[in-house]
Amino acid sequence: MHADIEQILISRADLQRRVVSLAEEIQADYGPSGPEGAGEITLVPIMTGSLIFVADLIRHLPWRMQVHLISASSYGGKATVSSGEVRIEAREPAAAEALADRHVLLVDDVLDSGSTLRRLTDWVLQRGAASVRTCVLLRKQIPSAMAFPVHYVGFDIPDAFVVGYGLDYDGYYRNLPEVVTLKHEALCS
Ligand code: IMP
Ligand code: MG
Repeated sequence: MHADIEQILISRADLQRRVVSLAEEIQADYGPSGPEGAGEITLVPIMTGSLIFVADLIRHLPWRMQVHLISASSYGGKATVSSGEVRIEAREPAAAEALADRHVLLVDDVLDSGSTLRRLTDWVLQRGAASVRTCVLLRKQIPSAMAFPVHYVGFDIPDAFVVGYGLDYDGYYRNLPEVVTLKHEALCS
């Protein structure tokens, strides 16, 4: 185990199992008889935190789909609380135009204050999307996150700063295969 890890919150096996069942929930809604009934969707993963989650998730969604990356940042560098301001950047020049008339599923790593998904939902709708739904791997059990109307949630977790499975602290720890908390010393160095 990595020396900076305090506690493993979600194991590899639990992550894999939940990704499969989340994909089943998404299929049920976007399949021919589901409420979105669209068949074809555009996945918009919010980089960089959703990198690993989305790579696993899309391999359990075996339909025709497009994927357009978008960047949003609200935590600068070594911060462990959100700045509240969200910067949005489409990663490919055509991504913003590609959303018109599409059924968009926004995918993020963790729902905290909700400002990232709120801003991005508006951003996608302003680009003429036919519908927008949201999916997060983790939701913190705090009032701001619990109040946000997210469609798909992998796990509800305590209000702690977590890393691994794509989530970072100051750009590090994304490659850890589990979702973990870090020792106090690792967060200060
Ligand atoms: P929100 O806009 O406050 O909901 O924050 C969401 C964004 O903040 C996520 O996309 C993450 O990039 C980042 N974030 C929030 N909590 C954590 C955490 O515990 N670890 C790592 N990143 C986090
Ligand atoms: Mg993020």
